[in-house]
Amino acid sequence: MSKRDFLALTDLSREEIERLFDLAAEMKAGRYRGRPLEGKVLALLFAKSSTRTRVSFEVGAIQLGGHALFLSARDLQLGRGEPIRDTARVLSRYVQGIVIRTFAHSEVEELARYATVPVINGLTDRLHPCQVLADVFTIREVFGSWEGKVVAWVGDGNNMANAWLQAAQLFGFELRLACPEGYEPDREIFEEAKKKAKVSITELPEEAVRGAHVVNTDVWASMGQEEEAEARALAFQGYTVDRELMALAAPDAIFLHCLPAHRGEEVEEEVIEGPWSRVFDQAENRLHVQKALLATLMG
Ligand code: CP
Ligand code: NVA
Repeated sequence: MSKRDFLALTDLSREEIERLFDLAAEMKAGRYRGRPLEGKVLALLFAKSSTRTRVSFEVGAIQLGGHALFLSARDLQLGRGEPIRDTARVLSRYVQGIVIRTFAHSEVEELARYATVPVINGLTDRLHPCQVLADVFTIREVFGSWEGKVVAWVGDGNNMANAWLQAAQLFGFELRLACPEGYEPDREIFEEAKKKAKVSITELPEEAVRGAHVVNTDVWASMGQEEEAEARALAFQGYTVDRELMALAAPDAIFLHCLPAHRGEEVEEEVIEGPWSRVFDQAENRLHVQKALLATLMG
């Protein structure tokens, strides 16, 4: 059988993801004893900082009986200009799976094209599928299902927003985005999602959040956009998720944030530390969901 990659949520079918969530729930409950990565090595090729993605994949690989190898792009010959396609073919001779975090999504596609082992997208400028996979699992855990749920996205139309659009496309829940003009998500991804789910975009956070079951945000300047931080802080005025905004959501609404968070910018302290917040369960779920992903792709 040919290898399977996970570069975008849409690389898996809805049924495959539901099976993966069942496995993740079994793992989280401590009922799973398998060691599908026994004798296998997972390489983590990172060109950007990471706490959750790196640690959850390393720990996950070890818990599944395998070994993880962290490779900073800076230290590899890749950082000195060795082509990604050569790196892909060389690593494929040593390891049984690769997680990559980098800037251009095209680099991840090139790596996957040339690698003969499964490649997992650990975040690009375009998508962050592992995070949104864990987020949808978190929604299922809290509400029992995502059926009939309304998810609001407040802030930047970034890699997370794009991945949420693909999640809506797959699962069919309603997704309302509130983004300032000029900071909308990828148009093509938006149009694709629109064919399958109720997705909408507004400039008014209140409009997106009213009655929503899940309120979601992320930093205003992503990794690699440090120089735009000041201009973005101005453009995003009024997009802070605060108590007043949360009061418009459904009575049992939850707040999600992929972290790291900037308190006082995209979210107020009282929200991220308040009763709505599920951010640490969400972070924990990265581990369980990615273990299920590793077992599925590398097992
Ligand atoms: N949410 C997330 O991917 O966190 P890290 O950048 O710490 O991996
Ligand atoms: N949008 C953020 C997510 C970090 C996990 C970034 O790309 O930096």
